[in-house]
Amino acid sequence: MSDELFLRIVTDPEVYADPYALLAELRETSPVHKLGFADYWALTRYEDCRSVLRDPRMGNPEPGDQVPTIAGNAVRTPKEERTLLFLNPPDHTRLRSLVSRAFTPRRVEGLRGSVEAMTAELLDPLVPACEVDLIDQLAFPLPANVISELVGVPRADRDWLRPLVSDLAGTLEPNRSPEDMERAEVSGAKVAAYFDELIDRRRTEPGDDLLSALIAASDGEDRLTQSEIGLTLSLIYAAGFETTTNLLGNMVHTLMRHPDQLARLRADRSLVPGAVDEVLRYQPPVQVDARYTFEDVEIGGHSVAQGSMVLTLLAAANRDPAVIDDPDRFDITRQDTPLLSFGSGIHYCLGASLARLEGQVVLAGLLDRFPTWTPLEENPPWKPRLTLRGLARLPVALA
Ligand code: HEM
Repeated sequence: MSDELFLRIVTDPEVYADPYALLAELRETSPVHKLGFADYWALTRYEDCRSVLRDPRMGNPEPGDQVPTIAGNAVRTPKEERTLLFLNPPDHTRLRSLVSRAFTPRRVEGLRGSVEAMTAELLDPLVPACEVDLIDQLAFPLPANVISELVGVPRADRDWLRPLVSDLAGTLEPNRSPEDMERAEVSGAKVAAYFDELIDRRRTEPGDDLLSALIAASDGEDRLTQSEIGLTLSLIYAAGFETTTNLLGNMVHTLMRHPDQLARLRADRSLVPGAVDEVLRYQPPVQVDARYTFEDVEIGGHSVAQGSMVLTLLAAANRDPAVIDDPDRFDITRQDTPLLSFGSGIHYCLGASLARLEGQVVLAGLLDRFPTWTPLEENPPWKPRLTLRGLARLPVALA
């Protein structure tokens, strides 16, 4: 029964629209669940997910490792260069330290003015009243513009990169098909060639952007190679907007469904940061994370063999009643909420503060300009994706 439940959660796009009841059922009936036909596990409790994400005995499969899939077969990890997200220590430690020298909290805070200006640029033309698809008009273009400015990608190239980057993000889905992987390979090669050329241009004409900072970043004699810079750029570019687009869409959607919370927010703007964090907890834009076991381990009293895949269902962990009161209640006044939406441990999201900044600026901008937000579709559709879960469109009347 639990296999069927787990497979529905992970592979049925109809469930993606509202997975929470099924996630709770899995957490209650089989919180550390192994698929009957594969070394493939699913975790739904907060503490289990958190400790797995922080455990050095688990990480990413190395090239050549046989990795179990949800379909019951095993695939060999390709022997290709990997981004930060897919590396293990010590390579991960070295690369993360070099990238962190360029991607500093100061650089993110320095973007606040630009994020405000870019938000105004998108929202001002909508005043005094309009009917729009908020995904198309705001939730997609804002993070794409922000990440383009941060990285140093000319804006004109943004629309061309969008579908290619989306193909790359598709490889993160647990039910990805061989066709998805092939498409991602072709798109990945185009993105790599694009960034290669951009890096060469910046080497001769450095700017004030992250790309120039990555070129300059060094630890003594150690520097990033051309391909490390390219891979890091494509990761940051992909991680930087698909996820944040989902956050912004989920935020407006969830607040419209909770008018009492929206009213509280209007009455007290100091609640804006807490509201963004509550959206991250309640409707996480990344719902699934995964680890591969390097050795036999024990998780929540179960023996998990070396070479297993372990999925951490972040959306379930964020609603675990063992760590959060009345978890299905959306409450923007919560304080110090346990949250796994940005992961945990050595791969903790490098862009968490930028994503929060964008959420807060957009929320304040919408509250300032529009006293009423009315959904034009009762159940707007979700994209057929679970790992990067977000709305396909969000038609709204703003006035
Ligand atoms: C709401 C928006 C976002 C969410 C929910 C999110 C979520 C996550 C999660 C769950 C991870 C951990 C993956 C793992 O454990 O394997 C992660 C890693 C990462 N994120 Fe984000 N992210 C967001 C926005 C961003 C932005 C805006 C950027 C860049 C500007 C970014 C860059 C990264 C990078 C580079 C990593 C890999 C870090 C590493 O492996 O050391 N993310 N993100």
